[in-house]
Amino acid sequence: MSKNMARYENETFSLDGNEVEFQPGETILQAATRAGHFIPHLCSQPGFHPHGSCRLCIVKINGRPGSSCTLKAAAGQEVESDIEELKHHRRTVLRLLFIEGNHFCPSCEKSGNCLLQATAYQLEMRGPRFEEFYPNRMVDASHPDILLDFNRCILCGLCVQASRDIDGKNIFAIGGHGMNTHLVINSETGKLGDTDMALTDKAAQVCPVGVILPKRVGFAVPIGQRVFDIKPLAEMVGEQPS
Ligand code: SF4
Ligand code: FES
Repeated sequence: MSKNMARYENETFSLDGNEVEFQPGETILQAATRAGHFIPHLCSQPGFHPHGSCRLCIVKINGRPGSSCTLKAAAGQEVESDIEELKHHRRTVLRLLFIEGNHFCPSCEKSGNCLLQATAYQLEMRGPRFEEFYPNRMVDASHPDILLDFNRCILCGLCVQASRDIDGKNIFAIGGHGMNTHLVINSETGKLGDTDMALTDKAAQVCPVGVILPKRVGFAVPIGQRVFDIKPLAEMVGEQPS
């Protein structure tokens, strides 16, 4: 083993008082996840470049806030995550995500398997607190095998990356600004049915909420047996489904 390897293997930072080892180049979220520590996050998944958009993964590093999915781990950092100040911040971010779209969990095919819903349960978010926007968003059923419900999009960008970088199809993009930011389909008609998207594409499997759904299989798993019925999110560190 080289000298450098030995040095890196021993490098650690502190996360809520626990020593966490990290490898060179790892982010705080990656190192924490590998060590089995839960930091809430929505727009980051293994194998994807961090998008830094959801702000759920904010931690305090030496007293200053920063997103753990984008900031690299460094030796001696004092990182705080499981503190009331950040839980309050994360619940506020979640509430804003819920009111900004149309999330009717009981009628959503992704209920029980949805990372947004599971995170809200995990962080004990109760009630929206803010006025609902009830935006007017469409459903695109033009594809033979895939349904798109834009009402539930949290603009995490994962489908954009998956389609562009893994599937090589570049079917999704995020367009607009501010309140009008929205998911766009790259086809002449703007419809998914006019793309070459397939159910086997990574982009069809990566959505953490209920936007990109396979047709004809909704509600196939009974309540009680869905992913987050079986184990709470915080106990699934490193094994979260998309
Ligand atoms: Fe993220 Fe899903 Fe919206 Fe794509 S459709 S940006 S994966 S929430
Ligand atoms: Fe870090 Fe979304 S997971 S900002």
